[in-house]
Amino acid sequence: MIKTSASLLACDLSDISGELSRCRAAGVDWIHFDVMDGAFVDQITYGSPVLKCVRRSTDMFLDVHLMVNDPESQIKFFAEAGADLISFHIESKSDPRSTLELIRSSGVKSALAVKPGTPVEEVFPLLPLCDMVLVMTVEPGYGGQAFIPETLDKIRALRSFAGAELDIEVDGGINAKTAPLVREAGANVLVAGTGLFKAEDMAQANAALKASQKGAE
Ligand code: DX5
Ligand code: ZN
Repeated sequence: MIKTSASLLACDLSDISGELSRCRAAGVDWIHFDVMDGAFVDQITYGSPVLKCVRRSTDMFLDVHLMVNDPESQIKFFAEAGADLISFHIESKSDPRSTLELIRSSGVKSALAVKPGTPVEEVFPLLPLCDMVLVMTVEPGYGGQAFIPETLDKIRALRSFAGAELDIEVDGGINAKTAPLVREAGANVLVAGTGLFKAEDMAQANAALKASQKGAE
């Protein structure tokens, strides 16, 4: 089943609870919460105190994407704040194995994220500890970038190695045009910021992301 995850990076932050209601009404499945530390990536966004407010405003599934150098030190804060899933980068400084174990022992689903230039094979030995793998389809750090087509082969390689059960999420430049490509390659969780929040009709945009290849333009 295809799921969508709306990246709050593109929402109107002055009205988070209104934007969360809009997502629910549009049929979006998950909320994607991009955490940037100004070190692993250029910008600084928001952290666990903001996630706590989001948690109070919605019962939707909260998908936290840590783009930080030291994710391991942050797990307890995001788990306490109400994250349902936490992904962090294999390129970060934390030990991936102990960080994945810590996420799971905190009662949260675990995921590893890979940047476009990182071979996806690097996550293979860690898959038993992962509920999901996030394949970045742009360089992390900014919303509104163009999808990188070379990432499709990585999605295919991961799906073929991991089998049908693993959730494979894609993030960056996902819209009605690129969604059929990533779905065909084997992704089943589609993050969209611009593609949902800036759409004229969010429900229609969400349906287009989820549509079968035949139905989607
Ligand atoms: C980029 C973030 C993405 C971003 C996606 O570093 O991880 O989640 O918000 O934005 P769009 O959908 O606009 O490419
Ligand atoms: Zn993200």
